[in-house]
Order: sequence, then C-alpha cells, then structure tokens
Amino acid sequence: MKVGVVGATGEVGRAMVKVLEEFNVPVTELRLFASERSVGKEIEFRGEKVKVELLTEEAMKWDCDYFLFSAGASVSRKFAPIAAENGVTVIDNSSAFRMEKDIPLVVPEVNAHLLKGYTGIIANPNCSTIQMILSIYKLHEVYGIEEIFVATYQSVSGAGHKGIEELLSQERGENVVRVFPKPIHRNVIPLIGDVQDNLFTQEEMKMINETRKILNDYSIRVYPTTVRVPVLYGHSEAVMVRLKRPFESLEKVKEIIASGEDVVVTDDLVTAVDVAGKNETYVCRLRKGDERSILFWNVADNIRVGAATNAVRILLKHAKMNGRM
Ligand SMILES: NC(=O)c1ccc[n+]([C@@H]2O[C@H](COP(=O)([O-])OP(=O)(O)OC[C@H]3O[C@@H](n4cnc5c(N)ncnc54)[C@H](OP(=O)(O)O)[C@@H]3O)[C@@H](O)[C@H]2O)c1
Repeated sequence: MKVGVVGATGEVGRAMVKVLEEFNVPVTELRLFASERSVGKEIEFRGEKVKVELLTEEAMKWDCDYFLFSAGASVSRKFAPIAAENGVTVIDNSSAFRMEKDIPLVVPEVNAHLLKGYTGIIANPNCSTIQMILSIYKLHEVYGIEEIFVATYQSVSGAGHKGIEELLSQERGENVVRVFPKPIHRNVIPLIGDVQDNLFTQEEMKMINETRKILNDYSIRVYPTTVRVPVLYGHSEAVMVRLKRPFESLEKVKEIIASGEDVVVTDDLVTAVDVAGKNETYVCRLRKGDERSILFWNVADNIRVGAATNAVRILLKHAKMNGRM
C-alpha cells in the first residue's frame, strides 16, 4: 500500500515511520512531507533514505491509500480535507477534527468497529486520553464507570520537539521560557493548554470530552488535572476510577484490566523512563479505595501509544477490515 506521512520530521512523524517499519506494514511506497524548513532532509525507512518533500495542496492529490498527519491542527484543517475528498483515508493526530460528530475518534483496541466501511478522516485521540482509556475500558465493559479522577504527569515531548529543546536548554543553564508558561527544569507546572471559561484547561477538556466520545457514554464524569513534568518521554497518570457496581477483589480487577489489548498490569514499579520506546500501556500500584473505587498508576510512551502507534494500529485495522490487506 502507498502511505504518506505529513509532519514526518517531528517527534510523532519520525516515530510513525519507525512503527510502520517495526509493525511490518506492507508499504510499497512511502512519501514524507513537512514544511520548507525540512525539504530535502532524509529519513530512513527499511534501510533506505527517503527525502522529505514540501507539503502542498497538489501533494494531497496523490492517489495513495493512507495519509498519516502529525503537523498540528491548522495544517490538518487545511490539507487533510483535500486528501479525504480525493478518496484517501486520513489518520489525523491533531485535535482539529476529534470532536466533530461524523468523524470517528478511534483507539483501535476499544472502538475499531467504527472503521468498517469508513473512508475519510479518522481522528487519533489526545495522548493522555489514549493511555487512560486503554487502562479502563475493560472495567467499563464489566462494571460500568461512573467517574474518573485523574492527575497527569506529562513529559515535555508532549509539546513536540520544541518542548524537549526547552527542557534541555534550561538544564544547560540557559534562561529560555517560550514553550511552557514557567521554567520546567526542576519544576512541575499544573497547566497544559489555555484555561477555558469553566477554568479547566484545553488539555483537561480533551480528556473529558474524548473519553466520553470513545467510550460512547456521555454520563461518565471525568475530573482531570493535567500537569507538565521535567521528563523527556512518557506520560504518567494517577487515576481513580469509581465504578457503577462493586468489584469482587483486586485480583479480579487486575485480571479484567489485563484482558484489554496492549495493556500490561504488573506488581512491579513502572516509570516513564522504563516505557520509552514501548507500545503498551502499563498499569501498576493498583489499590482499593472502597468497594466501588480503584486507584492505580498508569504510564505509556506518549509519542508511541499516545500518537504514532495508535495511528499505525488504526491503519492496520482499517486496512484489514476493509479488504486492503
Ligand atoms: N508529542 C506528542 O506526545 C503528541 C501526542 C499526540 C498527538 N500529537 C500531535 O501530533 C502533532 C505533531 O506533534 P509533534 O510532537 O510531532 O510536533 P513536532 O515535533 O513539533 O513536529 C511538528 C511537525 O509538523 C511539521 N510542520 C509544522 N508546520 C508545518 C507546515 N506549515 N507545513 C508542513 N509541515 C509542518 C514540522 O515540520 P518541520 O520540521 O519542517 O518544521 C514537523 O514535521 C501535533 O498535532 C500534536 O498535537 C503529539
């Protein structure tokens, strides 16, 4: 199949190229697109160097099978509809289309059924939402979820390459504060995205709205606090889930969470540094609050689980469900 990656030089785009290779996606032709800053740069795919091209409207008319987008919401808004109108399936990592009624918002382990017979734009959820959903969706199937309290500990790579550079330059002693609202080196910042009228941030609203849309249950109440921490890769989350019905035992809960796809439940202590480069979400420190509430820690590679791997998994499921491979 022919695949295009838009935003190929970014943190997520580069990971997409790696994951396409690692997951043995049968790509017959790969084209990479970015801004004029990157034209001519080379990125390796299966031992060969692929040159980065300029993203143009003309390029979006390429008769390919899939475009994977990860170049920000404004780029997606402008270019993704051109490809979609041309009959190509677009898997978009930005927030541009996630809440649109007719656009599926997909975590393939949870709601891949939406992909059957669908062509057009498919939205990839926000990174913090994906890893949380993967750790709770089986609990929702078995007991029903009433509410979720979550505090995130999000790495600087969640803000793209410039987020990583800002932490590294502050570590070198430079006084650069551009990407984050306060110095992030030796600090913790409880604000990701702009504050909305209801005083929650954009990132927090994504966790609320996207969770309900993916689980297709608008009665679930989600109370997030999203926090940036000086970690390079890997988002962590302290989650408390309140169920509709009492659970039998922590052992049973472990079994149920672990029955989810691409989730690892462990008694070991797992941290962000441990999961860099991994494609699973890890759940540890599971505890009982009361007979209906469970507390745990979850951690995943935000660039992979939270973006690139989810997008490639969507591509694979979509291709299989629609006779393309
Ligand atoms: N980082 C995460 O954890 C994460 C998770 C989920 C979703 N996402 C989403 O994925 C997208 C990319 O994130 P990232 O972390 O990879 O950011 P990044 O490292 O800053 O990379 C941005 C990419 O977009 C390209 N780009 C920017 N403006 C462009 C333009 N006008 N025309 C063409 N290409 C353009 C850049 O190309 P140049 O190199 O030429 O500038 C680069 O390839 C964002 O929408 C983000 O919200 C990120």
